[in-house]
Amino acid sequence: MFGIYCHIPYCASKCRYCSFYSKGGSGDVPQGYVDALIREIWRFEPCGSVSLRPDTLYFGGGTPSLLTPAQVCEIIDAAGCEQTAEITLEANPDTVTYEKLCAYKNAGVNRLSFGVQTANDDSLKRIGRSHDAKTARAALEAAQKAGFDNISGDVMLALPYYTSAELDATLDLLSICTHISAYILKIEPNSIFGKKPPDGLPSDDEAADFYLEAVDKLAARGYAQYEISNFAQKRRESRHNLIYWNVHDYLGIGAAAHSCMGGKRFSTPENAARFIEKPVEYVQQGVADAADYIMLKLRLTSGLSLPALKQKYGVSFTARQFTFIEQLVKNEMATFDGETLALTPRGLIVQNSVLMELL
Ligand SMILES: C[S@@+](CC[C@H](N)C(=O)[O-])C[C@H]1O[C@@H](n2cnc3c(N)ncnc32)[C@H](O)[C@@H]1O
Ligand code: SF4
Repeated sequence: MFGIYCHIPYCASKCRYCSFYSKGGSGDVPQGYVDALIREIWRFEPCGSVSLRPDTLYFGGGTPSLLTPAQVCEIIDAAGCEQTAEITLEANPDTVTYEKLCAYKNAGVNRLSFGVQTANDDSLKRIGRSHDAKTARAALEAAQKAGFDNISGDVMLALPYYTSAELDATLDLLSICTHISAYILKIEPNSIFGKKPPDGLPSDDEAADFYLEAVDKLAARGYAQYEISNFAQKRRESRHNLIYWNVHDYLGIGAAAHSCMGGKRFSTPENAARFIEKPVEYVQQGVADAADYIMLKLRLTSGLSLPALKQKYGVSFTARQFTFIEQLVKNEMATFDGETLALTPRGLIVQNSVLMELL
């Protein structure tokens, strides 16, 4: 499996919680940026005798739905995807129309990921989203009418003054989605909230309870959890994101994009103007080693296979690590069948502490 990620660092406005690299106040994506993305794809095209032929192509942001359908078409053509490729585009509800979505579909996009976040208009305003719930509903319905049958919705949990009723209303709003990503609000230092946190934030314990409540409610609605923050109907898991978690190769192009190729990790500078100007440097950021593999596999509910870890990296757990695993199982934070260690939702929510102890 091989994937290409295209970073589109432009947004109409900057949401208060967001620390992703993107330029607020953008109404569109400069054609120079699109040309530069294609330049980078061509740069990698002759990788020896192997053509790239990605199995997945992911337009992430920023706000990829600021791309025109013609720009999306140009990039998809340049990427030369496999015929069965999953091609995802992240969309902000207030940047799409039925006509635009039909044109994305004709260009080859077959999966949409909408940033809905919540169904509560006061919450949406508080976190600085530029759309309301009605606009989100209209965008989801337009996507369905345009023929998309693989639609994901992003949800944010434990927002200021959050309630179970807000969670229920949000899941109702997303009922046509085949996939849901649910993230607990994180106050990022490098965001507007990082400088001035909002009032009404739930405590860490309350946030954990909202997460566990979301896991249960999503399961009851037919979305199986397959990763810490990701839930899908049958065979609707994100094939692209599974490439990250299964430590397969992916090429990240654009400004501030990350790649993992041949077991090495790379990133490009956070500078869209420089990216447009000339070919960028892919700076190595270390290697995908055994610790990386353990960390990523333990994000997945399918878990970490110890025989696979031994085969791939020659690493086996020590007696001390097995004792810790026993404790996790006793506390219902993990399951272990002698070969595969998998965290339960109670373990997933404290994955960082589990990893610190395990590694
Ligand atoms: C790459 S981001 C942006 C996608 C798209 N631009 C949008 O906002 O709709 C993907 C998702 O990450 C989540 N996210 C971003 N920052 C977050 C934060 N600080 N805490 C929790 N979730 C966050 C949001 O749900 C967001 O939709
Ligand atoms: S959350 Fe999405 S729309 Fe909001 S600033 Fe970040 S990338 Fe842009």
